[in-house]
Amino acid sequence: MLSNRKILITAGPTWEAIDPVRGITNHSSGKMGYAIAEKAFRLGADVKLVSGPVCLSPPAGVETIQVLSAQDMYDAVHRQLEAHNIDLFIGVAAVADYRPASVHSQKFKKSSTELTLKLVRNPDIVTSVAALEKGRPYTVAFAAETENLQAYAFKKLVNKKLDMIIANDVSKLGTGFGTEQNQVLMITHEQTLDSGRQDKSELANTILLHISKHLETYEPDRTS
Ligand code: C5P
Repeated sequence: MLSNRKILITAGPTWEAIDPVRGITNHSSGKMGYAIAEKAFRLGADVKLVSGPVCLSPPAGVETIQVLSAQDMYDAVHRQLEAHNIDLFIGVAAVADYRPASVHSQKFKKSSTELTLKLVRNPDIVTSVAALEKGRPYTVAFAAETENLQAYAFKKLVNKKLDMIIANDVSKLGTGFGTEQNQVLMITHEQTLDSGRQDKSELANTILLHISKHLETYEPDRTS
Protein backbone atom coordinates (compact mmCIF):
# COMPACT_ATOMS: atom_id res chain seq x y z
CA MET A 1 0.00 0.00 0.00
CA LEU A 2 2.84 2.43 0.82
CA SER A 3 5.70 0.70 -0.99
CA ASN A 4 8.31 3.09 -2.41
CA ARG A 5 6.82 5.94 -0.35
CA LYS A 6 9.13 8.06 1.82
CA ILE A 7 7.42 9.10 5.02
CA LEU A 8 8.62 11.48 7.73
CA ILE A 9 6.86 11.40 11.10
CA THR A 10 7.27 13.42 14.31
CA ALA A 11 6.25 11.90 17.64
CA GLY A 12 6.33 12.40 21.39
CA PRO A 13 6.58 15.58 23.45
CA THR A 14 9.34 18.19 23.32
CA TRP A 15 11.51 19.26 26.25
CA GLU A 16 12.10 23.00 26.64
CA ALA A 17 15.00 23.50 29.06
CA ILE A 18 14.90 26.08 31.85
CA ASP A 19 18.28 25.06 33.29
CA PRO A 20 20.41 21.86 33.14
CA VAL A 21 17.97 19.92 35.34
CA ARG A 22 14.54 21.51 34.74
CA GLY A 23 12.32 21.99 31.76
CA ILE A 24 8.79 22.29 30.35
CA THR A 25 7.19 19.26 28.70
CA ASN A 26 3.78 17.55 28.34
CA HIS A 27 2.05 14.16 28.73
CA SER A 28 2.52 12.86 25.18
CA SER A 29 3.69 9.19 25.36
CA GLY A 30 4.67 8.98 21.68
CA LYS A 31 2.55 5.80 21.31
CA MET A 32 0.40 7.06 18.45
CA GLY A 33 3.33 8.39 16.39
CA TYR A 34 5.40 5.24 17.01
CA ALA A 35 2.41 3.02 16.07
CA ILE A 36 2.00 4.95 12.79
CA ALA A 37 5.74 4.72 12.03
CA GLU A 38 5.80 0.97 12.72
CA LYS A 39 2.68 0.32 10.65
CA ALA A 40 3.91 2.47 7.74
CA PHE A 41 7.15 0.42 7.65
CA ARG A 42 5.13 -2.83 7.62
CA LEU A 43 3.07 -1.44 4.74
CA GLY A 44 6.28 -1.06 2.72
CA ALA A 45 7.24 2.58 3.30
CA ASP A 46 10.72 4.01 3.92
CA VAL A 47 10.06 5.65 7.29
CA LYS A 48 12.03 8.29 9.22
CA LEU A 49 10.87 9.19 12.70
CA VAL A 50 11.91 12.35 14.55
CA SER A 51 11.09 11.72 18.18
CA GLY A 52 11.01 13.79 21.33
CA PRO A 53 11.92 12.13 24.68
CA VAL A 54 9.74 9.01 25.20
CA CYS A 55 10.05 5.64 26.96
CA LEU A 56 9.57 3.60 23.78
CA SER A 57 12.03 1.56 21.71
CA PRO A 58 12.57 2.79 18.15
CA PRO A 59 10.29 0.76 15.82
CA ALA A 60 12.14 -1.99 13.92
CA GLY A 61 13.19 -0.85 10.43
CA VAL A 62 12.48 2.82 11.11
CA GLU A 63 15.36 5.31 11.13
CA THR A 64 14.72 7.17 14.39
CA ILE A 65 16.28 10.54 15.18
CA GLN A 66 16.06 11.55 18.85
CA VAL A 67 15.64 15.23 19.72
CA LEU A 68 14.74 17.27 22.79
CA SER A 69 13.39 20.73 21.99
CA ALA A 70 10.92 22.02 19.39
CA GLN A 71 13.77 23.88 17.68
CA ASP A 72 15.82 20.63 17.51
CA MET A 73 12.76 18.87 16.06
CA TYR A 74 12.26 21.66 13.49
CA ASP A 75 15.95 21.46 12.43
CA ALA A 76 15.92 17.63 12.21
CA VAL A 77 12.69 17.65 10.14
CA HIS A 78 14.07 20.19 7.64
CA ARG A 79 17.38 18.31 7.38
CA GLN A 80 15.43 15.16 6.46
CA LEU A 81 13.29 17.05 3.94
CA GLU A 82 16.39 18.46 2.26
CA ALA A 83 18.18 15.10 2.15
CA HIS A 84 15.29 12.93 0.89
CA ASN A 85 12.33 13.32 -1.44
CA ILE A 86 9.73 12.89 1.28
CA ASP A 87 6.23 12.06 -0.09
CA LEU A 88 4.31 12.30 3.16
CA PHE A 89 4.83 14.24 6.42
CA ILE A 90 2.78 13.33 9.49
CA GLY A 91 3.17 15.63 12.51
CA VAL A 92 2.06 13.59 15.50
CA ALA A 93 4.37 15.23 18.06
CA ALA A 94 2.93 17.36 20.85
CA VAL A 95 5.31 20.24 20.20
CA ALA A 96 5.63 22.93 22.90
CA ASP A 97 4.21 26.20 21.62
CA TYR A 98 6.59 28.22 23.84
CA ARG A 99 10.11 27.85 25.29
CA PRO A 100 11.93 29.81 28.02
CA ALA A 101 13.43 32.98 26.52
CA SER A 102 16.80 32.09 28.03
CA VAL A 103 18.31 28.87 29.41
CA HIS A 104 20.35 29.12 32.62
CA SER A 105 23.71 27.44 32.18
CA GLN A 106 23.83 26.43 35.87
CA LYS A 107 21.09 25.05 38.15
CA PHE A 108 18.81 27.96 39.02
CA LYS A 109 18.89 28.89 42.76
CA LYS A 110 15.72 29.86 44.60
CA SER A 111 15.69 33.27 46.31
CA SER A 112 12.50 35.41 46.11
CA THR A 113 8.99 34.02 46.81
CA GLU A 114 7.89 34.69 43.24
CA LEU A 115 9.58 34.00 39.94
CA THR A 116 8.45 35.03 36.47
CA LEU A 117 9.49 32.86 33.56
CA LYS A 118 9.53 34.63 30.21
CA LEU A 119 8.48 32.40 27.30
CA VAL A 120 8.88 32.94 23.57
CA ARG A 121 7.06 31.22 20.66
CA ASN A 122 8.50 28.14 19.04
CA PRO A 123 8.38 27.69 15.26
CA ASP A 124 5.37 25.69 14.03
CA ILE A 125 6.94 22.67 12.34
CA VAL A 126 3.95 21.34 10.43
CA THR A 127 3.07 24.83 9.11
CA SER A 128 6.64 25.27 7.88
CA VAL A 129 6.44 21.93 6.02
CA ALA A 130 3.05 22.76 4.47
CA ALA A 131 4.46 26.12 3.30
CA LEU A 132 7.31 24.57 1.28
CA GLU A 133 7.17 25.47 -2.39
CA LYS A 134 9.53 22.85 -3.78
CA GLY A 135 9.12 19.22 -2.75
CA ARG A 136 6.21 19.91 -0.40
CA PRO A 137 5.08 16.51 0.91
CA TYR A 138 1.42 15.62 1.49
CA THR A 139 1.08 17.18 4.95
CA VAL A 140 -0.94 15.76 7.82
CA ALA A 141 -1.19 17.07 11.39
CA PHE A 142 -2.89 15.93 14.57
CA ALA A 143 -5.15 18.14 16.66
CA ALA A 144 -5.87 17.35 20.30
CA GLU A 145 -8.94 19.26 21.46
CA THR A 146 -11.13 19.27 24.57
CA GLU A 147 -14.22 20.90 22.96
CA ASN A 148 -15.66 21.79 19.52
CA LEU A 149 -13.48 19.04 18.02
CA GLN A 150 -14.50 19.27 14.38
CA ALA A 151 -14.73 23.08 14.18
CA TYR A 152 -11.39 23.74 15.95
CA ALA A 153 -9.59 21.05 13.97
CA PHE A 154 -11.00 22.31 10.66
CA LYS A 155 -9.75 25.81 11.53
CA LYS A 156 -6.23 24.36 12.03
CA LEU A 157 -6.47 22.52 8.68
CA VAL A 158 -7.19 25.84 6.97
CA ASN A 159 -4.82 28.10 9.00
CA LYS A 160 -1.85 25.73 8.74
CA LYS A 161 -2.63 25.05 5.02
CA LEU A 162 -2.61 21.28 5.58
CA ASP A 163 -3.95 18.46 3.42
CA MET A 164 -5.46 16.50 6.30
CA ILE A 165 -5.92 16.84 10.05
CA ILE A 166 -6.49 13.96 12.45
CA ALA A 167 -8.56 15.29 15.35
CA ASN A 168 -8.99 13.63 18.70
CA ASP A 169 -10.98 14.62 21.74
CA VAL A 170 -8.54 14.38 24.66
CA SER A 171 -11.27 15.12 27.22
CA LYS A 172 -12.83 11.65 26.67
CA LEU A 173 -11.79 9.06 29.26
CA GLY A 174 -9.61 6.26 27.89
CA THR A 175 -8.66 7.92 24.61
CA GLY A 176 -5.81 10.26 23.70
CA PHE A 177 -2.63 10.96 25.68
CA GLY A 178 -0.91 7.95 27.27
CA THR A 179 -3.74 5.48 26.61
CA GLU A 180 -3.91 2.30 24.48
CA GLN A 181 -6.99 3.33 22.54
CA ASN A 182 -8.01 6.35 20.54
CA GLN A 183 -10.84 7.65 18.36
CA VAL A 184 -10.28 10.31 15.72
CA LEU A 185 -11.93 12.35 13.02
CA MET A 186 -9.98 12.33 9.74
CA ILE A 187 -10.66 15.72 8.17
CA THR A 188 -9.75 16.96 4.69
CA HIS A 189 -11.01 20.11 2.97
CA GLU A 190 -13.77 18.01 1.37
CA GLN A 191 -14.73 15.33 3.88
CA THR A 192 -14.76 14.18 7.54
CA LEU A 193 -14.61 10.50 8.56
CA ASP A 194 -14.98 9.11 12.11
CA SER A 195 -12.62 6.20 12.86
CA GLY A 196 -14.63 4.82 15.78
CA ARG A 197 -12.76 3.71 18.91
CA GLN A 198 -9.78 1.47 18.13
CA ASP A 199 -6.47 0.26 19.60
CA LYS A 200 -3.68 2.65 18.60
CA SER A 201 -2.05 0.04 16.36
CA GLU A 202 -5.34 -0.71 14.54
CA LEU A 203 -6.06 3.02 14.32
CA ALA A 204 -2.61 3.62 12.79
CA ASN A 205 -3.66 1.24 9.99
CA THR A 206 -6.99 3.02 9.47
CA ILE A 207 -5.29 6.44 9.31
CA LEU A 208 -2.56 5.25 6.90
CA LEU A 209 -5.10 3.54 4.65
CA HIS A 210 -7.11 6.76 4.46
CA ILE A 211 -4.01 8.90 3.81
CA SER A 212 -2.69 6.49 1.15
CA LYS A 213 -5.88 6.95 -0.91
CA HIS A 214 -5.28 10.72 -0.99
CA LEU A 215 -1.56 10.25 -1.66
CA GLU A 216 -2.32 8.41 -4.91
CA THR A 217 -3.43 11.64 -6.58
CA TYR A 218 -0.90 13.99 -4.89
CA GLU A 219 2.10 15.19 -6.93
CA PRO A 220 4.80 17.15 -5.08
CA ASP A 221 6.60 19.81 -7.15
CA ARG A 222 10.18 18.47 -7.48
CA THR A 223 11.40 20.95 -10.08
CA SER A 224 14.40 22.98 -8.97
O1 C5P B 1 -1.87 24.18 16.85
P1 C5P B 1 -1.67 22.86 17.53
O2 C5P B 1 -0.44 22.80 18.37
O3 C5P B 1 -2.87 22.32 18.24
O4 C5P B 1 -1.48 21.86 16.30
C1 C5P B 1 -1.15 20.52 16.49
C2 C5P B 1 -0.42 20.00 15.28
O5 C5P B 1 0.61 20.93 14.91
C3 C5P B 1 0.29 18.70 15.57
O6 C5P B 1 0.32 17.95 14.37
C4 C5P B 1 1.69 19.13 15.96
O7 C5P B 1 2.64 18.12 15.67
C5 C5P B 1 1.89 20.35 15.09
N1 C5P B 1 2.75 21.39 15.68
C6 C5P B 1 4.01 21.62 15.13
N2 C5P B 1 4.82 22.60 15.66
C7 C5P B 1 4.40 23.35 16.70
C8 C5P B 1 3.13 23.13 17.26
C9 C5P B 1 2.33 22.13 16.72
O8 C5P B 1 4.40 20.93 14.18
N3 C5P B 1 5.21 24.29 17.18
